Amino acid sequence: MVTRYQLKHPEYDLRCIDCAGEYENDALYICPNCGGLLEVRLKEVELDFKFDGNIVGVWKYASMLPVRIKPISLNEGGTPLFETNLGECKAYVKHEGLNPSGSFKDRGMTVGVSKAVELGRKAVACASTGNTSASMAMYAARAGLKAYVLLPAGKVALGKVAQALMHGARVIGIKGNFDVALDLVRRISELENFYLLNSVNPFRLEGQKTIAFEIVDKLGYVPDRIILPVGNAGNISAIFKGFKELKRFGMVDDVPKMVGVQAEGANPVFKAFKEGRRDIIPERNPETVATAIRIGNPVNAKKALNAIYESGGLSVSVSDREIIEAQRILAGEEGIGVEPASAASIAGLRKLENDGEIARDETVVCITTGHLLKDPEAVIRVCGEPIEVEAEIEEIRRVL
Ligand SMILES: Cc1ncc(COP(=O)(O)O)c(C=O)c1O
Ligand SMILES: [Zn+2]
Repeated sequence: MVTRYQLKHPEYDLRCIDCAGEYENDALYICPNCGGLLEVRLKEVELDFKFDGNIVGVWKYASMLPVRIKPISLNEGGTPLFETNLGECKAYVKHEGLNPSGSFKDRGMTVGVSKAVELGRKAVACASTGNTSASMAMYAARAGLKAYVLLPAGKVALGKVAQALMHGARVIGIKGNFDVALDLVRRISELENFYLLNSVNPFRLEGQKTIAFEIVDKLGYVPDRIILPVGNAGNISAIFKGFKELKRFGMVDDVPKMVGVQAEGANPVFKAFKEGRRDIIPERNPETVATAIRIGNPVNAKKALNAIYESGGLSVSVSDREIIEAQRILAGEEGIGVEPASAASIAGLRKLENDGEIARDETVVCITTGHLLKDPEAVIRVCGEPIEVEAEIEEIRRVL
């Protein structure tokens, strides 16, 4: 059989979002001139895919992805877009929990780990609230690279730690939160020549932008809004970049409003948005049941706030109670099982509809970023353990 699509690679460089410095060096993560965040800037592309509704995965869009080797892939992407009855508006859910490791991070890791291989690196590293480590460990295993993970000890959902361990990563819990772990892993990676795979890495975000491509590919048009949880703020930045590129290359006319949802106990992006700022004030002690977004100092905050302002979007903050309620509704009424952080997007939709922010004729896509099974302990806390009875028909009938 012939390959379904040929991997044509785009011409690109890295640009600093602050000083506009341009670099041809793929080994950079931040601007050597001013320390700003870098972004991959596609220069020339020769598109070799069509938006025909055939959703096959990240590498369908290889001609817009900055990788020059045969990618390290586990068939990531290609996730379903479910129509739901969640809102008054037309509400879809793009279920990223159905990626190979159970979260959207796989889209970024297939590109990021491929880049590590392309650069000849032998080891990759990340700090993680859990999903990044699970995904990185999986792709590192596939690529034959060593993987090093720093986690906030005792604050990561069990399913995620289990994945990182079984896929062979060296997993180290630190007595500090995610923000501290990220700061440490950035310094250690520098010292040990590990390839850093947190979302400060611009190549990871390239993989994640394919969420935008798949939404347009499937719907056949650009929705009015995208609603998603925001932690380190990479995904919202990546998805918006995806839409902007489609517009730049003449494939769509519009971009959607980007809505970033944060948990009340960890909402520096929301607070910055409320005050019309483009930078955040870091929170020292973030806390939420949605441990995946328990982040007080998001590295990509500036990109995310740019995406929100430029798209005419907004940020919304939801309580843990609202998150859990949304998780139950999504699971119990739509059959879509997600972890708490992902349910934040549904909680955000509900809050915005209550506030009259969303018109009934709008099409909204909520991104559910991680699978229910990632955090079984959170589920048991909410639902309780199953009841136990004697193995007798009448006993069972009594409790049906
Ligand atoms: C399930 C889940 N949702 C949302 C996020 C937040 O994504 P980002 O850090 O790109 O904002 C994460 C990050 O760890 C996650 O694991
Ligand atoms: Zn710069």
